[in-house]
Amino acid sequence: MDKSNKVKWGILGCGKIAHKFASDLSLSESGVLYACASRNGDQAREFGIKHKASTHFNNYLSLAECKEVDVIYIATPHSFHHEHALLCLANKKHVLCEKPMGLNEIQVLSMIAAATKNKVFLMEAVWTSFLPAIIQVKQMINEGEIGDIRHIKADFGFRTIFDAQSRLFNPNLAGGSLLDIGIYPLFISLILSGYPSYVQSIAHLAATGVDDECTILLQFSSGATASLYSTLTCDTDTICEIYGTKGKITIPTRFHEQDHFYLQLNGKDRVEIKSGKKGLGYYHEIEHTNACIQNNITESNIMTHSLSLQLVRLMDEIRKQCGLVYPSERLGH
Ligand SMILES: NC(=O)c1ccc[n+]([C@@H]2O[C@H](COP(=O)([O-])OP(=O)(O)OC[C@H]3O[C@@H](n4cnc5c(N)ncnc54)[C@H](OP(=O)(O)O)[C@@H]3O)[C@@H](O)[C@H]2O)c1
Repeated sequence: MDKSNKVKWGILGCGKIAHKFASDLSLSESGVLYACASRNGDQAREFGIKHKASTHFNNYLSLAECKEVDVIYIATPHSFHHEHALLCLANKKHVLCEKPMGLNEIQVLSMIAAATKNKVFLMEAVWTSFLPAIIQVKQMINEGEIGDIRHIKADFGFRTIFDAQSRLFNPNLAGGSLLDIGIYPLFISLILSGYPSYVQSIAHLAATGVDDECTILLQFSSGATASLYSTLTCDTDTICEIYGTKGKITIPTRFHEQDHFYLQLNGKDRVEIKSGKKGLGYYHEIEHTNACIQNNITESNIMTHSLSLQLVRLMDEIRKQCGLVYPSERLGH
């Protein structure tokens, strides 16, 4: 691709997160919203007008087939990521897919295989990985600033009224706290401490059978541990604390979208470190995706395929321990 040209984006599914993403895309220096698609023509038109798209479609296939579009952001419920990503990849579109990339490891493996076969970019939209604060925390820890990590504590929770049909509680949309928000505490422990050697989890299941609470204990080969919690039943602090032998790092609420953090070395005063962020924070993953596409890179070196596979393997194991199987998985998908 000619680097002087802006990357042309398509957005598939015009729901809540799609609006936020489009708002940050408008800040991009290297990409532009070209098209959007909704199952509902009026919704597609309104979204397109609001976010200044060049065109809009009343179905997803037309977007996947649109010749002008380079990359498609998939912003549909969890249970459709696999199907919608495969549709776009088969049409040789680069794909940025909302988290979780797929429902299970089998789905993620087939998405990666489709991207490889079609020689296109595929990345899970874990935007947290690209936030300057998270990158800085990771770097400080790698450089031994707080010594050896011994424990990570992270939570993500909010109280929401039970609604069996909603995306959060409907098993057919792969609802539940783990896949929706528990993925963030899990992700932060994965990038800071690596894949655990031991996983123990307990969930409370809502009336629809999806987890409205999930508690996870991890242990790593170093002997260090993590305690993680996600919930749809109460408002929690949504912070991340990393305890090391020389001090502690705290990423305050809400840690997954934060622009600053605190460093407290043993016996010293707590210091605030401001890392900043642009827009709502999605800007950073957008610029990274644009740079990959402009340089013909098909896999991010930050949010790698391997990281997505590790994440989904962990969630598969946690769901197995908690007895959480989605309806489509009973049919073998
Ligand atoms: N990165 C983040 O910060 C963040 C935050 C929230 C959510 N998310 C992720 O983004 C994805 C979407 O979440 P959201 O909160 O934007 O959900 P949402 O508001 O419900 O939007 C989802 C969209 O998916 C489309 N869709 C296609 N088939 C559907 C079906 N059978 N039922 C419902 N919707 C269907 C709809 O778009 P059309 O009607 O236009 O076709 C709908 O508006 C999820 O994967 C979620 O985990 C990420």
